Amino acid sequence: MEYNRNLDRLPHYLFGEVDKAKDELLSQGRRVMDLGIGDPDMPPSRRMVEELKSEIEKSEWHRYPPYAGTADFKQAAAEFYLDRFGVSLDPDSEVLGLIGSKEGIAHLPYAVLNPGDYSLVPDPAYPVYGNNTLLTGCMNYYMPLAEENSYLPDLDAIPSEILGKSKLMFLNYPNNPTGAVAPLSFLEKAVEFGRRNGIIIAYDNAYSEIYYDEADRPPSILEVKGAKDVAVEFNSLSKMFNVTGWRIGFAAGSVEILRNLLKLKKNIDSGVFSAIAATGAYGLRECRGDIEAMRKLYLKRRDLMTAALEEAGLEIKPPSATFYLWCKIPGGGDSTAFCKQLLEETGVLITPGVGFGKYGEGYFRISLTCPDEDLEAAAVEIVKFFNNRNTG
Ligand SMILES: Cc1ncc(COP(=O)(O)O)c(C=O)c1O
Repeated sequence: MEYNRNLDRLPHYLFGEVDKAKDELLSQGRRVMDLGIGDPDMPPSRRMVEELKSEIEKSEWHRYPPYAGTADFKQAAAEFYLDRFGVSLDPDSEVLGLIGSKEGIAHLPYAVLNPGDYSLVPDPAYPVYGNNTLLTGCMNYYMPLAEENSYLPDLDAIPSEILGKSKLMFLNYPNNPTGAVAPLSFLEKAVEFGRRNGIIIAYDNAYSEIYYDEADRPPSILEVKGAKDVAVEFNSLSKMFNVTGWRIGFAAGSVEILRNLLKLKKNIDSGVFSAIAATGAYGLRECRGDIEAMRKLYLKRRDLMTAALEEAGLEIKPPSATFYLWCKIPGGGDSTAFCKQLLEETGVLITPGVGFGKYGEGYFRISLTCPDEDLEAAAVEIVKFFNNRNTG
């Protein structure tokens, strides 16, 4: 049987090799300190769990939910955007509930692209942007995110023949994997670029609440005047409330883009479980203050790991947002081989940069979402590993 040929266009799943090496160590009874995946180790707040327990008792929530999300959840998302970003949204037409932001991001190319169209995709990046463009049969143009350009793409460097064929541009700040934050001035430039070239901007703001400096909070692209004409922003409750397993997020912005995304989604899924949506609304209204404790915890972990990497002789700029550290392998080189060697010799699992795209080669990503005792042990092992490497 020949399956969809577009599946063969997906890049080789590099994380598979690291996972295999991890399973092998575990089967030998070795300790593995997993700093690989970005999945918060801490539980959601007690209040959110209690709210979910009471919502789940309500019989009306067990029927099919509204496709676009419950009116109350969309209202709560709009209140959040007004309070946090000063962005006013019509909950009915400018907010769309999602089964996690990944779901909406993954479906967007199917709602937007036609054969021959291009997506502009940052590299390194969360693989979902480019991979779903490939699955539609369309093409990606990869925009390098270089350290010397603060991990922002150079929009002026995109060739004009590509621009003419481009329909969609993905941007993600605070950025996975680099931890970079985009200033509002860049978002203004991006909106102007999208309007001028007729390109839809999909802005992934899933880490908007994971920041370290209250005076320097990451912006929303919807703060930019005219953004609602060309942009749709994705946000998520996953990281702000430690509920990655609940699957709840939303998209906000252009009425037309959201209408088309919903048209597609109506043929694929049936919306977010309403008990989860009701608890999500409660969280957005009542529990955002709890995120502060998480920020403090990640800050402590960030500083601990930064100090260890510096002690190991690595150059590292601590991120001002996200729970990721992005670091150059001294001397560059094959990030997969490097991560495998680190794992085999020390039990510390980190992610090879090339897993996020070819411009990620020579880097690695550390996630701070693992228990403190594992992170502390990993820090000690990393220092020893580099000291041996330098003297060996
Ligand atoms: C950049 C980025 N966007 C979106 C997501 C998806 O998050 P969720 O589907 O849980 O909302 C992730 C998950 O790791 C991510 O790293």
